[in-house]
Amino acid sequence: MPLFQTIQFNETTKILIWQITESLEELLSKVVLKEKTQLRLNGMKSQMHQRAFLSVRMLIQEMGFTDHELHYDEFGKPYFDCHNYISITHSHDFAAIIISDETVGIDMELQREKILRIADKFVDTENSYLSLNSGTDNIADYIRELTIIWGAKEAIFKIRNEKGISFKDHIRIDAFSLDQNQTEASLHFNDLVIEFNVHYKEMKSDISGQNFTLVYAFEK
Ligand SMILES: CC(C)(COP(=O)(O)OP(=O)(O)OC[C@H]1O[C@@H](n2cnc3c(N)ncnc32)[C@H](O)[C@@H]1OP(=O)(O)O)[C@@H](O)C(=O)NCCC(=O)NCCS
Repeated sequence: MPLFQTIQFNETTKILIWQITESLEELLSKVVLKEKTQLRLNGMKSQMHQRAFLSVRMLIQEMGFTDHELHYDEFGKPYFDCHNYISITHSHDFAAIIISDETVGIDMELQREKILRIADKFVDTENSYLSLNSGTDNIADYIRELTIIWGAKEAIFKIRNEKGISFKDHIRIDAFSLDQNQTEASLHFNDLVIEFNVHYKEMKSDISGQNFTLVYAFEK
């Protein structure tokens, strides 16, 4: 299935999600790649990574852009020739992009138990409101919450793209509820405090039946 979902967030911000069902050959036949991109594709070890990478090009084409207009800075952050901002993510069955005239970051994560083992590495102030601490011993909800926090921190990191940012020490995600779809966050780094609006949405893959969390953030 090609385009899985489109979110017109506001007049100038659009999110496109691709569910990756096509073969490598099928995707290759549908995208036009510049030489630099083709070389990067050739160097990828896994076919899944290649299919995700090409699915992003499908999304870019869907938005009326071409691969020729997409570039990467020295840290791997994507940008366009024009004034639009772009952020990219891929995770297992999905690839997604956000394009906006505001500074944005996006992240997609598979909800999985493994996150329980690494929570300590990226959660700090958020412990004050996480559901396991407020008496509910619902592990499934706790995993969903942790995945939102992780995704939000990745999205914020992608916006700022600064060396030395620690998810645990420098990025704080405000309290949120699984019933809602937004919260706020702040980055405390290099004597500056920068605020963000964070939005999240969960979705199930038609391919694997697994649950994913999409998070995108705007710098205020
Ligand atoms: C670079 C990073 C943000 C990528 O995120 P990820 O969840 O691994 O992978 P995603 O699929 O969501 O995102 C990959 C895309 O992010 C973009 N990206 C890569 N580096 C980037 C950067 N420095 N800034 C912004 N965007 C970046 C690229 O578009 C890339 O896809 P593409 O190369 O195919 O176009 C991530 O690996 C990273 O370095 N995070 C910060 C490190 C850290 O502190 N980790 C946690 C410690 S507890």
